[in-house]
Formats: sequence, structure tokens, C-alpha cells
Amino acid sequence: MNESVTTFPKEAIARAAADFPTPFFLYNEARLRENCQTFRDTFQTYFSDFRPLYAVKANSNPDVLRIVQSEGFGFDASSRAEAWIVEKIGATGMYTGNYTPADELAFAAQRGFILNLDDASMVDFLDEIGVPETLSFRVNPGMGSGDRESNVLAGPDAKFGVPFEAASFVYAAARDKGVKRFGIHMMTGSNNLDVKFFSQSVEKLFEIIFVIKKETGVEIDFMNIGGGFGVPYHPDEPRLDLDAVVSGIRTVIDDACKKFDLKEPVLYAEPGRFIAADMGFLVGKVCVIKNGYKKFIGIDAAANDMPRPSIYGAYHHVSVIQCDDKPRVEEIVSVVGGICENNDQFAKDRLLTECRVGDLIVVHNSGGHAYAMGHNYNGRTRHAEYLLKIDGMIEKIRDAEKIEDLFCGTRID
Ligand SMILES: Cc1ncc(COP(=O)(O)O)c(C=O)c1O
Repeated sequence: MNESVTTFPKEAIARAAADFPTPFFLYNEARLRENCQTFRDTFQTYFSDFRPLYAVKANSNPDVLRIVQSEGFGFDASSRAEAWIVEKIGATGMYTGNYTPADELAFAAQRGFILNLDDASMVDFLDEIGVPETLSFRVNPGMGSGDRESNVLAGPDAKFGVPFEAASFVYAAARDKGVKRFGIHMMTGSNNLDVKFFSQSVEKLFEIIFVIKKETGVEIDFMNIGGGFGVPYHPDEPRLDLDAVVSGIRTVIDDACKKFDLKEPVLYAEPGRFIAADMGFLVGKVCVIKNGYKKFIGIDAAANDMPRPSIYGAYHHVSVIQCDDKPRVEEIVSVVGGICENNDQFAKDRLLTECRVGDLIVVHNSGGHAYAMGHNYNGRTRHAEYLLKIDGMIEKIRDAEKIEDLFCGTRID
């Protein structure tokens, strides 16, 4: 049993639920900082000038961003809104969109982001938006790995990145336009728990760097190996051995620099899930219990709050906080929300403490790719976010949406 999956701040969640309406997200600052420190320190042990970037798409709440920033991270943005909010907190980083229009690249460049271009055709955008001093390309190294098909983000089926066979062409084209400093980027997949894949893909990236240098003379100053560092969602899954990942990458880089006679590029990585996932909990209240063909525990949160189970069939650990202290048995139930889709189920046929109306249901691992993936289907508003601070205080860091917000810009009257 992996306790990092099953542990949760029970007292703080119960306190928040007593003080504020459910459903809500509660983020644990201590855990967020610990994740940042583990990531940063593990890499910096092996790479003294390592630069961590946080993937804003995982959780873009400004309070979360400011905490991550205070732990020494820059940012990876992938949309106008992400670049905008990063600028608002006084930071910058790298910009990795895909199929990005020229005006969006200009928006990011004006905010100091290093651009990662995703296709050869985008080199011509530089005529329009101006030639930056420093430029990077997202390369598809021909291999990808993730916890499910939709999370495999490189390889022949992936829509992302410049195919590695075309890498020399794009770097030469950018150099001919006047770019002076170059980086290379890859993002091979998400939620990867396979230690070996990280060093294998870095090895492949070095072969690509070598070919670029041989064919064009362009030297790569920095390499960004993306995110994808997995976290356990199921209690039977182990935590990713990050030290083994990074020491494996260290060995590959030492060997490759020697073998190919290359100067070592500065290393960047841009984790999202590893930083944010397990610091967050979605908390809903049991409102209806149905004894149908199965026993369904209906809660006031739904798939629009945290769509991973409905989109991916993703497993999320669920805990019950009882509204009384009467002894309860355990039973097999499904925990569901109120959206008109049968995949609105946070847990299916799961052994849980017997529930009563008024109990709290805690959905673990809801800090990353959770609120950020939320939506308004069925006219459901998204809910508030709270921060459990290091000193034990709980602060609201985002209001719940109101019904009026859903109709903003329409002609109601
Ligand atoms: C370009 C890029 N960078 C970083 C990330 C963050 O990935 P993760 O949250 O798996 O670390 C993603 C996720 O899709 C991504 O597309």
C-alpha cells in the first residue's frame, strides 16, 4: 500500500467543509513545496545549473504559481492565458504551443518567453514576429511513453513536434534567419513511471543533437526534456524513483558528450503533475444514496470539476470522512456526480466505508490536471479553491463560479 496515495489532511478538510460550502478543492502548500524541492534538488544534485520550469497547464491558480516561483521555478506556458498569468506574477519561461498562430507566438515573445516552435512552417513566422536571439524547437524523437494512449505525446502517431529527421533543416533555416542561440525540446508523454524510458529518450535526443551539429554546424546550448514525471494514483503503484531517473540521465549525458564530442547543454525540465497532483483534493458531500442495480453514492461534485475519470477512465483514490462517529461496515459502491453522462463516476465498484448523506467524499490526487481540465457542461459551475497554508490557516484562492458567469456576454433580457 503506497501511503503517499492514501494519506490526506483529514482534519483540515473537515474544518474547511465546516466553514465553507462544498464542493471545493483544497491544496496543501506543504506538499506543493515538498514536491518542488524534491524535483529541483534531485536534478541539481546531478546537474548544478539545472533550470526547473513548472508546466502551468497542470494548475494555473496564481497562488499556486507564486509558491512554485518562490521555490526557484520558471514556467512552461502553452497558451495565451498561461503566458498572461505568468507575466502577471512577474515571471517568464518557455512557450510550447502546438499548431500555434504567429500572433500567439508574438504574444509570448513579447512577455519574454523563449519560443519552442513545433513545425518547420513556423520558421517563416519569424519574418512576421521578429527573429529572436534565442530559439528552441520541439522535436519528436520518434519514441513516446505515457500511462495511456492519449498521454503518449511523441512517436509516429503524435501530432506534436518536428519529426527528428527534419531537425537539421529547421535549425539551419532558423540560423539563416539570424537566430544566434539554440535549444532543443521534447515532451514524450505524460504520467510516465518507467524509469528507463527517461534516459532512453535523452539518449535519442543526443543522437539528434549530434546529427544537427554534423549537418549544420549548429550547437545546442540548452535541452528541455519536458514533463511527464509520473505519480502513483493507485495505492498499489510505487512512487517514481526520481533519483534513479536523474542519475540515469546523468550517465547518458556523460557518455553521449564523450562519444559525440559535444559540449554539455544546460538542462531544463518542465514537470506539471509531479509538482501539483498529490497536493490537491476535491471534496464533495454525499447528497443522494441510490440502491439501484448497484449502490450509487451521489455527491455534489461532478465530472466537470475534475474530468480525468470521465475522459480517461483514470483511477483516483477516494476516502470517506464520516459525518458521525458511528461504526460503519465497508461495501462495494460507485461514487457519482450529477451530470447527464454515465461516465460521471469518480469511483466504480469500489470497496469504501459505508456512506451516509452528509458524509464527505475526498478525491485524492486532484491538484494537477484537475481544476485545470474542468468545464461547464450541463451548466455546472466550477467550484472554489482553498489553500491549506503551512501555518494551518485555510485561505480561499479562487471564488466559486456563479450562474451569471456562465451567461456572461449573452443577451439574457
Ligand atoms: C509541452 C508540455 N510540457 C509539460 C507538460 C506537463 O506534463 P506532466 O504534467 O505530465 O509533467 C505537458 C503535458 O501535457 C506538455 O504538453
